[in-house]
Amino acid sequence: TWTTAAFVDEAIREVRAKVGDKRVLLALSGGVDSSTLAFLLHQAIGDQLTCMFIDQGFMRKYEPERLVKLFQEQFHIPVVYVNARERFLAQVVGITDPEEKRRRIGHEFIQVFEEESNRLGPFDYLAQGTLYPDVIESANTNIDPKTGERVAVKIKSHHNVGGLPPNLRFKLVEPLRKLFKDEVREVGRSLGLPDEIVRRHPFPGPGLAIRIIGEITPERLDILRDADLIVRQEINRSETYHQLWQAFAVLLPVRSVGVMGDQRTYAYPIVLRLVSSEDGMTADWSRVPYELLETISNRIVNEVPGVNRVVYDITSKPPGTIEWE
Ligand code: XMP
Repeated sequence: TWTTAAFVDEAIREVRAKVGDKRVLLALSGGVDSSTLAFLLHQAIGDQLTCMFIDQGFMRKYEPERLVKLFQEQFHIPVVYVNARERFLAQVVGITDPEEKRRRIGHEFIQVFEEESNRLGPFDYLAQGTLYPDVIESANTNIDPKTGERVAVKIKSHHNVGGLPPNLRFKLVEPLRKLFKDEVREVGRSLGLPDEIVRRHPFPGPGLAIRIIGEITPERLDILRDADLIVRQEINRSETYHQLWQAFAVLLPVRSVGVMGDQRTYAYPIVLRLVSSEDGMTADWSRVPYELLETISNRIVNEVPGVNRVVYDITSKPPGTIEWE
């Protein structure tokens, strides 16, 4: 029978045997898979592990600082923080096509990843939070014809874009490859990861960039970050967080008329997207209490300059997708 304790012991033994005294690079995203992986590897090989966090500037408000602080101060796992905000923004300026946005962000991620791994390396292995469903899809890896070993061809958080150049096709360490998502959560919890990470909602690799419809500007990013923070605060306060698969805000690039005091306003609408789902493949819009929607709407319109209207997305998947781009 499967127990987390037996799994962790075995995984640690396996990683040590495979890696020996070599160095391992891990791209930390803050999600449950890469965080669990970081904990496991840190226990197994200590400072032979380098965790790198690339801040592309499309994270939710306070998340990058919080993640780095949590790992360094609370977990005592060192993290190399890479501030690449300007570079990513420069890549997406003027781009409105959703797939082109994803392509450019994925490409830039690999660029930054390459530069940083050269600067910090050399590394023999890349650690990836590959799970069993990813192995079945075999979307992120190739088999090296010479050695028969699995090698990285893509980065998991950007699996839908680009590919790694040959010099970055590290050998892989994938201790979670036999697990399903709920087993990863159990392992993470048993290693001491806090609930805030273990039960975290999924967040897409390109982040807020695909939640600003149309052109991304620093102003729109600030507006969306502030609105999104209010959504999360109210969802947490109401304790509906754990019933939802995802809960977030989307910014539309149109303006509508409103009135504030005796002033006419002309500003952006924010879309609330709250969905329940088992696996993200299908999803249902959530029948949350009207009072919760009212609180979120009032707070966003009152507290976020640049927004004068909040609408609720009542489309399920299919035919809608969870994200708007
Ligand atoms: P959709 O919008 O296709 O999303 O219904 C299904 C799930 O996948 C997430 N998603 C992404 N994750 N990179 C990611 O890492 C992406 O480009 C991306 N697009 C969508 C989405 O948040 C949802 O959980």
